[in-house]
Amino acid sequence: MRKVGANDILVIGAGVIGAAIARELSARGASVSILDARTPGSGATQASGGMLAPYTEAGEGGPLLELGARSLGLFDRFIGQLQQDAGIPVGYERTGTLHVAREDASLAHFAETAGELGQLGIEAQLLDTAAARAAEPNLAPDIFGGLLITTQGIVAAPSLTRALVMAAQRAGATLLEPARVQRIRAEGDGVRVDTTQGSIAAGTVVLAAGAWAGQVTVEGADAAPPVKPVRGQLLHLGWTAQQLARITWDERCYLVPWRDGTLLVGATVEDAGFDERNTVGGVRQLFEAVCDLLPLAWNATLLSARVGLRPGSPDPLPIIGWSSAVPRLMYATGHYRNGVLLAPLTAQVVADAVLDGTADPALALTSPARFGRL
Ligand code: GLY
Repeated sequence: MRKVGANDILVIGAGVIGAAIARELSARGASVSILDARTPGSGATQASGGMLAPYTEAGEGGPLLELGARSLGLFDRFIGQLQQDAGIPVGYERTGTLHVAREDASLAHFAETAGELGQLGIEAQLLDTAAARAAEPNLAPDIFGGLLITTQGIVAAPSLTRALVMAAQRAGATLLEPARVQRIRAEGDGVRVDTTQGSIAAGTVVLAAGAWAGQVTVEGADAAPPVKPVRGQLLHLGWTAQQLARITWDERCYLVPWRDGTLLVGATVEDAGFDERNTVGGVRQLFEAVCDLLPLAWNATLLSARVGLRPGSPDPLPIIGWSSAVPRLMYATGHYRNGVLLAPLTAQVVADAVLDGTADPALALTSPARFGRL
C-alpha cells in the first residue's frame, strides 16, 4: 500500500460522497489519497437511480429540505465544471418529477404540497386527470391526477462518480489499493488508520464509507458511527415503448427514465443487514408495482436487478462534521436516500472545514455530536 504523507488527507470511501469530497479537496490544491474496500462507486452508488428530488425526499420539509434544496442549487455549476475537469460527459437533466394520484386523499395532499412549495417560490403544478395523462400518456387507467415539480431532476450516478474520481486523479489525488478500514485513532497531530492491508498515517481523515462507516471503530468514541445499512432493490428494464418524459412516482415505486432509453424501477426499503442480494420477494414487489403504474411494463425486458445498501442515520439528516474523539477525523456519512443529491454540498462544506477551518451553517444541522461523543 502506498504511504500517505503525514500531512495528506485520506478520504475513506469512493462512493459518490467520498469521490465528491476527494475531487473538491484536490481541486483546491490539497494532497489527497482515496481508499475503498472495492472499486470506486461499487457500493450504494452503483444501484442509485440518481434522483435529484429534495422536495419529495424531504417529506415534511425541515432541515433536510433546506440542505437538499441548497445542494440542488449547486448542481448546474457542479456538473458543468466537473465535465470540463474530468473530460467525460455526465448524464444530467432537470426534467422535473411527476407524482401520480389514485385517490382523493393523495390529490388533496398534492394540493397542500403545491401550495407550500409555491410559498417557497418552487414551481409545482397540480394536474387533473387529462393533464396527468398528457404529461405521461402511458399511465394506468386508474390514475386520476398528479403533481408536477419542474425543478427536480436526474443525474447518472455511476458516470458522475467515475467523473469525480477521474477529476480528483487529474488534480493529483491517488487511489490506493483496496482495503477495508477497521480502526481509526489519533496519533500525534494526525490520524492513524488500521486496515485489512496494513496501517496508514495521515494528517486528516474523512470517513465517507457509507453504510460501512458503522463498522469502523473510532478510538475514544462512545460508540461506532450510528450508520445502518438499509437495502434498496431496483429493476433495470429495457423499455420498448415511448420513453417517460421525467421521473414518475406513485405510492409503491419510482421510475427513472435514463437517456439510453432504459428505465430504472425503485426501490425496496429493507432492514437486511449487509446482505447485498436481490431477493425473489423484492423483485416481485417491484414487478407488480411497475406493471400497476405502467401496464406496458409487462412487455419490457428485464436487463438486471440491482441492489444497494443506503447509509441510514438515526434521524433524517446525514452525519457530517468533526469527530470529538479523534481531532483530525471528519465524518461524511449517513446520507440515506440522498447521497447523490447532497454530494456537491457535502464536498463544499467538508473542504471548507478541512482546508480553511470554517464551519458552514449546514454543519450545525449535521454535527456528529448530536449522537454523543463520536
Ligand atoms: N433516493 C431513492 C432511494 O434511496 O431509493
